[in-house]
Amino acid sequence: MKILVTGSSGLIGSEAVEHFDRQGHEVFGVDNNMRRVFFGSAGDTLWNLERLKNACKRFTHAALDIRDRRAIDELFASQRFDLIVHCAAQPSHDKAQDIPLLDFEVNALGYSAAGFRSQRAGNRQPPGSDAAALPRSRVRVLEHQ
Ligand SMILES: NC(=O)c1ccc[n+]([C@@H]2O[C@H](COP(=O)([O-])OP(=O)(O)OC[C@H]3O[C@@H](n4cnc5c(N)ncnc54)[C@H](O)[C@@H]3O)[C@@H](O)[C@H]2O)c1
Repeated sequence: MKILVTGSSGLIGSEAVEHFDRQGHEVFGVDNNMRRVFFGSAGDTLWNLERLKNACKRFTHAALDIRDRRAIDELFASQRFDLIVHCAAQPSHDKAQDIPLLDFEVNALGYSAAGFRSQRAGNRQPPGSDAAALPRSRVRVLEHQ
């Protein structure tokens, strides 16, 4: 399968990348290192991106911003995905109080933009609304195949 993982350098996304790569799937990761914007240098994920590039066999990455509608349109126009694991997010409830508009842009509008464009592009599965649950449920399905 060809699998899109958004937030591929983050905690959940990078685990999904490694898991699906180990299973022999082609994984396309999207992450613009926005975690550094939210949490400062301690939140930088570039080390994890480098680790994935070295550890994975069929992993490619693009530093796209999921809020960038044109870029997301172009992605879905140029590639078809069998599964989308949507993990790009601002994950902290406490942080959301400090940056409510930015939080909404990423977690609500970014998610919707990716979902609507994915469906319009004819992908089988739109991104799930529960980023943590989706990979687990899909992993279970794949392991039973
Ligand atoms: N970590 C957990 O235990 C846990 C549990 C339940 C649910 N979740 C949910 O899973 C999701 C991911 O959580 P996480 O812990 O992996 O967070 P994370 O911060 O480790 O990863 C999120 C990734 O998304 C990227 N990102 C953020 N905004 C982006 C944008 N505009 N464009 C592209 N990439 C962007 C960040 O750079 C980061 O690498 C969140 O929705 C979170 O609420 C996480």
